[in-house]
Amino acid sequence: MILCENLVKIYKTAETEVLALQGLDLEVPTGQLMATIGNSGSGKSTLLNILGGLDVPSAGKVVVNGTDILRLGKRDLVEYRRKTIGFVWQNSARNLIPYLTALENIELPMQIAGGRKRAWAKELLDMVGLSDRAGSRLDQLSGGEQQRVAITIALANNPPLILADEPTGAVDTHTTEAIMKIFRRLNTELGVTIVIVTHDRHLSRAVDRVVAIRDGKTSSEFLRRHSYREVYEHDAQTGAELFPDADATHEEFVLVDRVGWLQLPKDEMRKLGIQPNSRLRVREENGRLIIEPVDDRTEE
Ligand SMILES: Nc1ncnc2c1ncn2[C@@H]1O[C@H](COP(=O)(O)OP(=O)(O)OP(=O)(O)O)[C@@H](O)[C@H]1O
Ligand SMILES: [Mg+2]
Repeated sequence: MILCENLVKIYKTAETEVLALQGLDLEVPTGQLMATIGNSGSGKSTLLNILGGLDVPSAGKVVVNGTDILRLGKRDLVEYRRKTIGFVWQNSARNLIPYLTALENIELPMQIAGGRKRAWAKELLDMVGLSDRAGSRLDQLSGGEQQRVAITIALANNPPLILADEPTGAVDTHTTEAIMKIFRRLNTELGVTIVIVTHDRHLSRAVDRVVAIRDGKTSSEFLRRHSYREVYEHDAQTGAELFPDADATHEEFVLVDRVGWLQLPKDEMRKLGIQPNSRLRVREENGRLIIEPVDDRTEE
């Protein structure tokens, strides 16, 4: 669904240049529910805006759903944003019109794209558990309910890809879990690919895959050892919590890029007392690569 190669984004202002993405590579298979985590300023929103056709990279390649989006003309780009992508933001007010009802809010983007489909709108509201609030004005709904309406709006035109920038940033833990379950349901039942940007490492429990971005590059991956279905079935059988402890179900990986650069996790460097710009000894042992700090004072 997504292929990004060597994405670079430089923001130029009068005084400075900010390197927001520094050669980011990312591949997301169709049907994946994935999260992108990273510190503030690491380039997460920049990536999402590029994927959504709202911004263009300074260099690199972006293919979404088989389309090289950097080659799209103006008209095709508008079409792409409308039909291929559904956006969800932290602040749902950005998507919604307060004096319209939930149902009217969902029908609006359908109308813009050329066709109101009341049955689909109702089905979407049902999927997010809001069928009984269809006739309520948006400003009469809670923040979490508004966010659920925002999710249905993102799906109004049946896009294959949902991009969600901190969709749970403004709601409590309970609502966060409810929203993550909705994303999972939409992912399983509609087969929609979902990319969620978050600060919240705990959300990683509820997705298939987590990619960490550091300094504008994908730096490490946390892959689920168990599929969601396994976890779900386990939970159903044992009645245990739906989202088990993140550390128990995730393993951190480091990626090697095409030319062999390897970025060591900062925590590990700290633990081993590895200083930046220091020499490390690398040796192979029984199919493992061993990397160890070298004490420069005693060596050579
Ligand atoms: N329009 C812009 N003009 C100049 N610099 C920008 C612009 N947008 C983002 N930046 C800079 O690019 C870098 C990446 O920003 P981005 O918004 O992608 O980070 P982020 O990971 O989404 O952060 P957060 O978690 O705080 O939302 C930051 O250093 C930011 O200051
Ligand atoms: Mg951001």
